[in-house]
Amino acid sequence: MTRRVTEVRSRTFRPALPPDALSLIQLGTLRTTYRGRGFFKDPFDVVLYQELIGRLRPATILEVGTKDGGSAVWFADQQAAHGIAARVVTVDVADPPVLDDPRVTCIRGDALALDRVLPDQVLATLARPWLVVEDSAHLFEASLAVLEFFDPRLQRRVRRRGGRDPRRPTATRHRLLESASVSPARSWSSPAQ
Ligand SMILES: C[S@@+](CC[C@H](N)C(=O)[O-])C[C@H]1O[C@@H](n2cnc3c(N)ncnc32)[C@H](O)[C@@H]1O
Repeated sequence: MTRRVTEVRSRTFRPALPPDALSLIQLGTLRTTYRGRGFFKDPFDVVLYQELIGRLRPATILEVGTKDGGSAVWFADQQAAHGIAARVVTVDVADPPVLDDPRVTCIRGDALALDRVLPDQVLATLARPWLVVEDSAHLFEASLAVLEFFDPRLQRRVRRRGGRDPRRPTATRHRLLESASVSPARSWSSPAQ
């Protein structure tokens, strides 16, 4: 299997783009909309996610950090564009947006206590493979809590005889953390704070 993960310690954190360019891209990202909703993805995210969805073909996308729901609707559209029956479950500590999209389920809940809103009986109904997207507070504690919640709930895919379909991953689960690479100090605080 090709190793795709680079350990944080071995990263240089020297981006190819100049900091000014990255700041402008970040500003643009904060103004981006998708189908009339805030959509907080930069151009690199958009390309990487569509590539990831095409390769992993997730049956369910579990997102932590809904905001306006722009990314949840975009994820569902990306699944549909790839011929996947779209299913997105998105959790946010703030009131959920009104989406009126049967493919997307919005749940109010805290990244720090996902067991309260995503009990195992509910998770058991969600088709695999899953793609888990942690895009909530952009704080260490929140990201760690999301990883710790999902890690024991993810399953490894069993390889088929005769080799695997190159479009498919070797595991049923893949996690993606969005990092605040441009402004590491900035976080998305919850309304309670
Ligand atoms: C970066 S925005 C999400 C953007 C959205 N995924 C998109 O790409 O359009 C971060 C969201 O995380 C939510 N948030 C912050 N802290 C949270 C927490 N502890 N648990 C759940 N959601 C949280 C905020 O309310 C905010 O809506």
